[in-house]
Amino acid sequence: MKQVKIFAHRGASRYAPENTLPAFALAAEQGADGIELDVHLTRDGRLAVIHDETLDRTTDGTGRVGEHTLTELQALCAGNGMPGFASARIPALEEVLDQVRPTGMFVNIELKTSILWYPGIEEKTIELVHKMGMADRVIYSSFNHYSIERVRGLDPQAETAYLYSDIICDVERYAAAHGVNGLHPGLWNIKMPGFLKTYLDSGLAVRVWTVNEEEDLRRLMQAGADVITNDPALAVRVRRSLAD
Ligand code: G3P
Ligand code: MG
Repeated sequence: MKQVKIFAHRGASRYAPENTLPAFALAAEQGADGIELDVHLTRDGRLAVIHDETLDRTTDGTGRVGEHTLTELQALCAGNGMPGFASARIPALEEVLDQVRPTGMFVNIELKTSILWYPGIEEKTIELVHKMGMADRVIYSSFNHYSIERVRGLDPQAETAYLYSDIICDVERYAAAHGVNGLHPGLWNIKMPGFLKTYLDSGLAVRVWTVNEEEDLRRLMQAGADVITNDPALAVRVRRSLAD
């Protein structure tokens, strides 16, 4: 039986500031198979790794990410109030890929295009991924399914997944019809009876977010689903206990 995979949500974000290089380094140390990260486009057309459209929650800056240049963004503290991480910065996607490449981990790049659809973000991301030689280790996801359509149009070999929060009718058939390889449902969705089995039976990759509690991790991994978690250390322990 194939081993289920553990993806560190915004890095090992229970232990280090989300979407920063220390959080991604820790994910590798803790034994995650991959990381999940969020990408926005800066004012000068660079790819920045941060979750929100605005800077206010996770940095000491204010305003929209897309109204700043990458240099301006990297002058900010992205420590998100976590002790010991005052030097954490907003990384460029290139810096993250550079750090992750030697680890062999997968990278789930979430294109943050559902509130602001940054022109050219798909092209730039794909170009960078290919330049870094990581095309076979990247999974593209987005809540904006047209963004995924665009990824597929630009790079038909790219591994893709539909991310969704509210439940979508026949999502597994919809994904398969569009040539999309995976489903990324929210945890509350698969807690409703029937959905997880339907998703797994479809043969598509199923990666559930965000799974942070031991019992949920155990149930999902036992069923054969991959997990996206803030706590890869816990997920690795649970997976090990299932193998015993
Ligand atoms: O990709 C899974 C998860 O990250 C989606 O939601 O808001 O944490 O980016 P969010
Ligand atoms: Mg995300």
